[in-house]
Amino acid sequence: MSDTATPDNTLTQPAQASTAARPSKRDIDSTMSARLAALQTPKLRDEYGQQGSFLYIDDFLPRDYTERLIAAVRDVMPSVNRNYLPGHKAGGSVSRHTLDKLAPFIAELYRSEALIKWLETITGDKLQLSPQDDPHAYAFYFYTKPGDHIGWHYDTSYYDGRRYTLLLGVIDDSSCKLDYELHTKSPGIPEQAGSVQYPPGAFVLFDGDKLRHRVTPLGENEMRVSLTFEYVTNPNMRPFQRFISNMKDSIAYFGFKQVFRRKGGKNGQA
Ligand SMILES: [Fe+2]
Repeated sequence: MSDTATPDNTLTQPAQASTAARPSKRDIDSTMSARLAALQTPKLRDEYGQQGSFLYIDDFLPRDYTERLIAAVRDVMPSVNRNYLPGHKAGGSVSRHTLDKLAPFIAELYRSEALIKWLETITGDKLQLSPQDDPHAYAFYFYTKPGDHIGWHYDTSYYDGRRYTLLLGVIDDSSCKLDYELHTKSPGIPEQAGSVQYPPGAFVLFDGDKLRHRVTPLGENEMRVSLTFEYVTNPNMRPFQRFISNMKDSIAYFGFKQVFRRKGGKNGQA
């Protein structure tokens, strides 16, 4: 089920950002604080609530951070795990375990206290990091072959609490759209369809159990990569939910080797 994604011409250029000094945790926090302070947070919080726990921001990440993410894509290309579920999904993924080794800037951005605090203001929830063994905590999703897509689904939380999905645009040389339906779980509120083609640096946030969504198929000679961050309100997961979640992640995303890692073993935590 695993192979290497097709390299794209835009990725053969030297990786500028990956060779530059990696910003410290403090640098990331102050950069994100400054960026987030420039946003109209009260208005965005209202918009998030009115849209049934969904928010889109076209220009979110600082430009050099977007460039760092694009450079990280080049660094992880040989590690993409391809998956195909007939009728539902085709594409590639790179799990948090691989990003920890090859793109540590992403792990630090995920943990930015300024970012998490701001997300808490938007969602109204106290957020926690996903547990160490969750390969989705931060991950790249690759669309590199014609027809790559994912069908209608929810990002179901198998945790005891809610799970929030944050998507960041990294590369979008494609005609793919993120189609979504708001209010499917809001009794008395009419469902509302929407669609967005989010560019590099753009932001999408939603409660995984509330937003029905899909990504439309990739065309010929196209490429699309997005980065996901997952935050939870309660990291506890009961054994049956753990089993279902692990099977889904192994088959649909990262492969069994990445999902069933033994702590302290030779495939232990990075
Ligand atoms: Fe999803």
